[in-house]
Amino acid sequence: MSEPLTHTAHRWVAQSLEAGELAIDATAGNGQDTAFLARQVGACGMVLAIDCQQSAISRTQERLDTQELRPRVVLVTGDHADLLTLTPQHWHGRVGAVMFNLGYLPGGDRARVTLPATTCRGLTAASALLRPGGVLSVLAYRGHQGGPDEAAAVEDWMARAQRYGAVEWSVHHSGNPSGPVLHCLRVTESTPTATTLMTTIQEESRWPS
Ligand SMILES: C[S@@+](CC[C@H](N)C(=O)[O-])C[C@H]1O[C@@H](n2cnc3c(N)ncnc32)[C@H](O)[C@@H]1O
Repeated sequence: MSEPLTHTAHRWVAQSLEAGELAIDATAGNGQDTAFLARQVGACGMVLAIDCQQSAISRTQERLDTQELRPRVVLVTGDHADLLTLTPQHWHGRVGAVMFNLGYLPGGDRARVTLPATTCRGLTAASALLRPGGVLSVLAYRGHQGGPDEAAAVEDWMARAQRYGAVEWSVHHSGNPSGPVLHCLRVTESTPTATTLMTTIQEESRWPS
């Protein structure tokens, strides 16, 4: 049986993210990715975990408390479309990894699902926050209403980012046409300012803000 793509994402991020680094979980949810990032950056690193639902932030906090990882994580209730303003200025251009795990909170309010426009704004912000060699993982689900459109928007965003240059992009499929898709992007050079990048990608984008 093939490996779950959540594991593939962790394995891939772990190849680049080092102890002492900064990392961001843009969709904290139940906190599994946040806990992974917190273990990966170690006691000297720091993770910013964002979710638009307070219930998700509470679940993430509980998981971190149980695993004694809480001191390494800043928890924020907010929209990842605002990632640039939610991230401390001195983190900009220094973040080792950003993870997006799209869709809805398992066992939570399915109406609070990630959406193409806000996801793509978050991706653009994330790419501008990464250090050279930093990585962005995006797990998109196609099995729920709106999922295929969002997965297509993410693929479109990735293709545009690749055309813009200075990134490497790989895609992992689950093998099922309605199954999840994992996108892995590595910044190979320092990205231009967030504003320049956002303008360039959004000018071409099907998903304007
Ligand atoms: C599939 S879950 C994330 C799973 C999580 N990474 C984990 O390890 O358990 C998706 C999460 O995205 C959150 N979300 C939806 N739209 C959002 C937005 N615009 N900004 C931030 N979080 C959002 C949902 O509340 C939900 O908790």
